[in-house]
Amino acid sequence: MTSAEPVSLPADDAPILPDWPVVARADLPDEAATIALAQRLAEHLHPGDTLLLSGALGAGKTHIARALIRAWLSDPGASVPSPTFTLVQCYDSPRGEVWHADLYRLSDAQELTELGLDEALGTAVCLIEWPDRMAPDWPDAALLHLDLTPGDTRQATLRILPEHPAVDRLTRAFAE
Ligand SMILES: Nc1ncnc2c1ncn2[C@@H]1O[C@H](COP(=O)(O)OP(=O)(O)OP(=O)(O)O)[C@@H](O)[C@H]1O
Ligand SMILES: [Mg+2]
Repeated sequence: MTSAEPVSLPADDAPILPDWPVVARADLPDEAATIALAQRLAEHLHPGDTLLLSGALGAGKTHIARALIRAWLSDPGASVPSPTFTLVQCYDSPRGEVWHADLYRLSDAQELTELGLDEALGTAVCLIEWPDRMAPDWPDAALLHLDLTPGDTRQATLRILPEHPAVDRLTRAFAE
């Protein structure tokens, strides 16, 4: 599938994100494509994996997290509110816990400990919106960046260190 060039923010406004190598890209022409990618990611994620979800306001971070959590829970109707104000939401299932965080309103790094997210990292599946708020203390993670593209479509980019144990699993989720 071809895609138009992603629209980039001016460099001065771009949030600081980990500079890990790009290992995969996917065009997401509509919401269904985003949900399908989330479902494949849910199949390949293991407890202890962390996925940082970056992208502009409205890029689709919550949309992909919601679909991934529903797939992880095997409950397509599960209520998955955006953690905009609570900062974290936690879901339990026989496969293990999923933590969904939105750090947009994070006041300081100490709050990550108070919220329990520090302890969940490396144990639960953690999906973290606005991970730039953690800079420069990146957790051991993969970064899924969503670019808004012309025509209200999206492009997803997966960045991860080549030696990361989840690299093959997550790349496969993009390739299928
Ligand atoms: N291909 C697509 N993938 C994801 N969302 C899409 C797509 N096309 C349209 N949308 C719409 O874009 C919006 C994305 O909203 P969402 O809340 O997921 O953004 P967000 O990145 O979490 O924003 P915020 O930074 O405010 O938390 C939704 O209304 C969704 O329906
Ligand atoms: Mg959101």
